[in-house]
Amino acid sequence: MSFEAKVIESSDKPTFYAELAQQARGLLHGERDRIANAANFAALVWYAVPTINWCGFYFFDGRELVVGPFQGKPACVRIALGRGVCGTAAATRETQLVVDVDAFPGHIACDAASRSEIVVPLVIDGELLGVWDVDSPEPGRFDEQDREGMQMLCAVFLQALSQPLKTEAAA
Ligand code: SME
Repeated sequence: MSFEAKVIESSDKPTFYAELAQQARGLLHGERDRIANAANFAALVWYAVPTINWCGFYFFDGRELVVGPFQGKPACVRIALGRGVCGTAAATRETQLVVDVDAFPGHIACDAASRSEIVVPLVIDGELLGVWDVDSPEPGRFDEQDREGMQMLCAVFLQALSQPLKTEAAA
């Protein structure tokens, strides 16, 4: 299998995210392995989305969040629920859009360059799977359109985990 990510030219965010979601669907098609899909998903976003310095997953191990596949500098490994932006997204199950990380109480600075951040909770059938975290060195980098876009991308990631595979569809 070969996958070639096309450069997305659109400066219009809804169009950009729609195209990226389409690429993600193609990339994850036919594969349900969570780690494999998370690694490819993080790489896809890293090379497509401008002005970011970290993107990746924290998965819930039943007790706390543990870092998963990501792109960017090495990150803190474990985050308690309710701690930092990731722990808050996990505990509230609501996307955290942080315009200025210094103004967020308890923000965990893995990379000192990060100025703004967005974290989307990943929930399947009411169960917390983890969170998807993206950091930017630019203050106010993420807005409502990024929230919509990132949530759409995460929906593609979650759908891929339970997609019917070819062999099953044929059976
Ligand atoms: N800033 C996050 C920690 C994870 S790193 O950004 C990779 C937080 O406050 O939860």
